[in-house]
Amino acid sequence: MCGIVGYLGRQEAGPILLNNLRGLEYRGYDSAGVAVLDSGRIDVVRRLGKLAILEEALEKECPVGTVGIGHTRWATHGAPSERNAHPHLDCKEQIAVVHNGIIENYHPLKEELIRRGHTFNSDTDTEVLAHLIEMYYTDDLEEAVRTALTRIEGSYALAVVCPEHPDLIVAARKDSPLIVGLGKDEYFLASDIPAVLAHTKDVLVVEDNEMVLVTPTGVVLKGLDGTVIEREPIKVTWDAGAAEKSGYDDFMLKEIFEQPTAIRETMRGRVDNGKIILDELRMTEADIKRIDKVFIVACGTSYHAGMVAKYAIESWVRVPVEIDIASEFRYRNPILDDKTLMIAVSQSGETADTLAGMRYAREQGAKTMAITNVVGSTISREADGVLYTHAGPEIGVAATKTLIAQMIALYLISLYLSTIRRSLSVEDEAEIVDELFRMDEIVQGLLDDTRQIALMREYADKHAGKSDFLFIGRSVGYPVALEGALKLKEISYIHAEGYAAGELKHGPIALVEESVPIVAVATEGHVYDKVISNIMEVKARDANVLAIASADDSQIAKHADEVIYVPRTSEILSAVPAVVPLQLISYYIAKKRGCNVDQPRNLAKSVTVE
Ligand code: AGP
Repeated sequence: MCGIVGYLGRQEAGPILLNNLRGLEYRGYDSAGVAVLDSGRIDVVRRLGKLAILEEALEKECPVGTVGIGHTRWATHGAPSERNAHPHLDCKEQIAVVHNGIIENYHPLKEELIRRGHTFNSDTDTEVLAHLIEMYYTDDLEEAVRTALTRIEGSYALAVVCPEHPDLIVAARKDSPLIVGLGKDEYFLASDIPAVLAHTKDVLVVEDNEMVLVTPTGVVLKGLDGTVIEREPIKVTWDAGAAEKSGYDDFMLKEIFEQPTAIRETMRGRVDNGKIILDELRMTEADIKRIDKVFIVACGTSYHAGMVAKYAIESWVRVPVEIDIASEFRYRNPILDDKTLMIAVSQSGETADTLAGMRYAREQGAKTMAITNVVGSTISREADGVLYTHAGPEIGVAATKTLIAQMIALYLISLYLSTIRRSLSVEDEAEIVDELFRMDEIVQGLLDDTRQIALMREYADKHAGKSDFLFIGRSVGYPVALEGALKLKEISYIHAEGYAAGELKHGPIALVEESVPIVAVATEGHVYDKVISNIMEVKARDANVLAIASADDSQIAKHADEVIYVPRTSEILSAVPAVVPLQLISYYIAKKRGCNVDQPRNLAKSVTVE
């Protein structure tokens, strides 16, 4: 997720572009840049690092001109660097582009353009846009952009300027947000509302498959077929701070509700005609066929994602999987060799214990693969293969959307391994892929279910004062229970423990009493009846039980005191919808207790020390 801005008006564009990028920095902050039209040329300034570094550069020498575009980057293709920072230019440096999204077919397009003599200066997918527009450009910038977009597969919110059209910005949107702030004879393009609030509260929303032409006389919306679209602007009532959170009270809540997008973006471009395409893993079929053991190594929430992947890989690939807490892994003398695949899961890509575990595995001759949300992170640079989650920046310290994206990425890897090792039938594989493709809608349906959300809030209000919780589950419900306990602990500071439900009778059941709420992950699966038995065990000891159950479960209400229903999925994929209520209940309890959910005490977003 990146942020794009544009300005056209009477003021100097440079300072306005920089200021407006500040309102989008929460969308990405590994590099930034601006391009300003200045008497027949494009003046581009780009810098690696946070926006403050670009600011320093612009303070020394700011481009002159009143029309320009800008970008703050969250790398998806091409490590963070000045050369990969936007804006990107065509060969003649007469077309500048900023882009938020993923061009899924950039490889073949780049090869075609190179064959046609274009020279590339970056590793990004976005630069393809600048050269495509150049290829189609004669003297009509709008038409060149429109034609270039017919070649693009993927998502985009983009803005384009060209010195031959000094009073024009052409922009377009598909699957990535884009708005236009309407000032007095000046206009502000942006990925999101925070960027324009300092100038105007009148905002025109650009919808998917639309283009927008900004000129000194106003803003014209068009369909990709060129038809003009009339749309009333909206009046924004948020302040800038709230707007960065898109109106949510906290980044954590916003990120929970961004999970359908995180799923969609992590899936994007990785399934073609029902087949999983993970060339980015840089693993040959021979490499994959040689694997006779998998280790998954991670910390905290990422460890829970790894636990879910153990069920997926062992069920679908039939290869043994060991799952290790990273801080324990390298000290227990694990048995690895060149037929071992070690998967390191880390949203930050900087967790010291996970990094050390991956280095240890490499020393032992294992193939290493990283699942991370940060392009260019240390773990991504050191692993043999990387599969990025595309959840966008996660500002809340408590991992939510990155967990869901990690699970999706690990499911994709499991399916990729099963395809190459032919361990699943074509029908079974197709069924799983189809369900994965619907997972964003499944989670969206849950987040849109106002009844279930109200039940979560009521539950949180009722139990926010409790001092101990137990979370239990079986199968993939077990890592979900552990994650529920971790979420509650880390943002509400309430003591909570997650257990395999079958383990209660071996000690933890001594803790059970009325004052200890129990959350049972009881979604449908082959061990559902055993979870029901465990619920009955604790109910016999006066426990209050909340069950997380499948939407059409007609039995659970007879056993649990309260039930929150989640959309039914196949058992191994049920971890995705099942974890969402636990995230929200923890959030509501923490808010009720007046905790700072985005920055909980004692925690950091990335633990870079052992
Ligand atoms: C999760 O909410 C916590 N913030 C923490 O457990 C986190 O998952 C853990 O530190 C691992 O971080 P990583 O994914 O960046 O490696």
